[in-house]
Amino acid sequence: MNFRVAVIGAGPSGLYAAAALLSSGEPVSVEVLDRLPAPYGLVRYGVAPDHVKMKSVIRVLQKPFDPADVEFLGGVRIGGDGIPLDELRTHFHAVVHATGSSVDRALGVPGEELAGSLGSGAFVSWYCGHPDFTELSPPLDHPGVAVVGAGNVALDVARVLAKTADEMAATDVPGPVLDALRSSAVRDVHVLIRRGPQHVRFTPAELRQIGDLAYAQVVVHDDGLLAAGVEEPATIGQGDRRQRQNLAMLGEWADRPDDGSPRRIHLRFLRSPVRLLGEGRVSGIVVERTAVDASGRLVGTGEEEVLDVGLVVRAIGYAGEPIPGLPFDEATGTVPNEGGRVVRDGVPVPGAYVTGWIKRGPTGVIGTNKGDAQETVAAVLEDLPSLPAPAHPEPDALREALAAHGIRPVDWTAWLRLDAEEVRRGGLRGAERVKVAELAEMLDAAHGADAR
Ligand SMILES: Cc1cc2nc3c(=O)[nH]c(=O)nc-3n(C[C@H](O)[C@H](O)[C@H](O)COP(=O)(O)OP(=O)(O)OC[C@H]3O[C@@H](n4cnc5c(N)ncnc54)[C@H](O)[C@@H]3O)c2cc1C
Ligand SMILES: NC(=O)c1ccc[n+]([C@@H]2O[C@H](COP(=O)([O-])OP(=O)(O)OC[C@H]3O[C@@H](n4cnc5c(N)ncnc54)[C@H](OP(=O)(O)O)[C@@H]3O)[C@@H](O)[C@H]2O)c1
Repeated sequence: MNFRVAVIGAGPSGLYAAAALLSSGEPVSVEVLDRLPAPYGLVRYGVAPDHVKMKSVIRVLQKPFDPADVEFLGGVRIGGDGIPLDELRTHFHAVVHATGSSVDRALGVPGEELAGSLGSGAFVSWYCGHPDFTELSPPLDHPGVAVVGAGNVALDVARVLAKTADEMAATDVPGPVLDALRSSAVRDVHVLIRRGPQHVRFTPAELRQIGDLAYAQVVVHDDGLLAAGVEEPATIGQGDRRQRQNLAMLGEWADRPDDGSPRRIHLRFLRSPVRLLGEGRVSGIVVERTAVDASGRLVGTGEEEVLDVGLVVRAIGYAGEPIPGLPFDEATGTVPNEGGRVVRDGVPVPGAYVTGWIKRGPTGVIGTNKGDAQETVAAVLEDLPSLPAPAHPEPDALREALAAHGIRPVDWTAWLRLDAEEVRRGGLRGAERVKVAELAEMLDAAHGADAR
């Protein structure tokens, strides 16, 4: 009998884990489950629509499914209102949890609950056509928007808001998103960065993209810091080079005169949000000027200013969701583990593993998840021979259990039908694909309209 391993989550970490299990040469059969009818996790629902090249990683991630070595079961949520984890465990020797970090972190400032205050997880999911966010309707009716954070997600959000609808039409954004962008009144996107230009977490390639926009200019608000000569980072290595490139770019932009572009991305350094203003919905944001003290600590100066904005998107990071039945570290938003083995009070939980963002937290690019998954898979392979056999190892038993729960999974063939429908819709708009975002429409396209 083959060892049976379930991978929960068809994002990069889950799919790298599936590939590593297959290429091990061990007698392992792998099933990948995802709560959504479509695979690829944040590659599909996070990577910005205009990062078309980045999405080509899909060709690598789909490899295990092409020769049908791995089974895909889309539309199957584990935990919550889906299949209980305990029940899933009865079908597998081991379960690898690769569920990512989808919860938006909060700023913890007054007014954050107002309409028009969104986390980047929600806003990005909306423009990427995630079925849970089709109704989001972010208010784009005001010229000013604030984006909080100095990471690559903040840049993605600012860039998408600053691009014209004609530029975005060539991407895979769903029709209603394109319509909303077409009627957008947004002109000034204020990126609020709580520390200095030497502390940003942008990567130079992503920073350069906002400088190359055809219809938007970057305006650097650094209170003369760059001209005075910002202290360069003391670290040696990759991060150091990255910051030098960022500083060079920012310095060049700081000197640029107004070029009359219809839209602007303002990079506002040393500004931290203290409260959101508005009756019912956001009408402004109060920011405090900050300083970084000699020990590198961020301190407020007490000096406040108000920005006139109708939407605030906080791009300040994510946390994972607890997995019922597994330990969870609230502080980091991750599942405690040692090299991928889930541990409770320092003791491994038999047959339970994690990989990707739920294992190490919400940092790292797609490729970072490959080595991470390989580490987890090495632990799985080492443990498999000593793990107890599942109660229901027969390949059909899981499908029968899903049917008993009223779940008809989207298998790989069904996903390919949905994929083909998106490519067809793309052809009508001159794009590679246009996403199908409504869940019912996704299922119709996957299973055929009469088979929902
Ligand atoms: C907005 C954004 C843009 C990014 N852009 C880039 C980029 O351009 N380039 C780059 O290299 N990196 C980018 N990244 C980083 C990259 O996306 C991550 O490193 C990577 O996706 C993490 O992989 P993961 O598999 O751990 O999580 P995810 O990609 O989030 O995958 C998790 C999967 O688990 C599924 N799932 C969750 N809960 C359950 C459940 N209970 N039951 C079943 N399934 C479940 C989800 O549906 C999802 O498919 C970006 C990240 C974000 C947030
Ligand atoms: N194209 C790409 O390659 C791409 C695109 C998107 C994402 N990604 C990757 O995905 C990962 C996640 O990206 P991310 O942008 O979400 O995270 P990130 O890189 O960790 O950046 C988070 C930012 O939020 C700021 N922040 C946190 N709390 C704050 C608060 N209370 N007030 C104000 N600012 C606050 C942080 O500032 P401090 O530094 O001061 O803490 C930091 O600048 C990263 O590894 C990123 O590189 C890659």
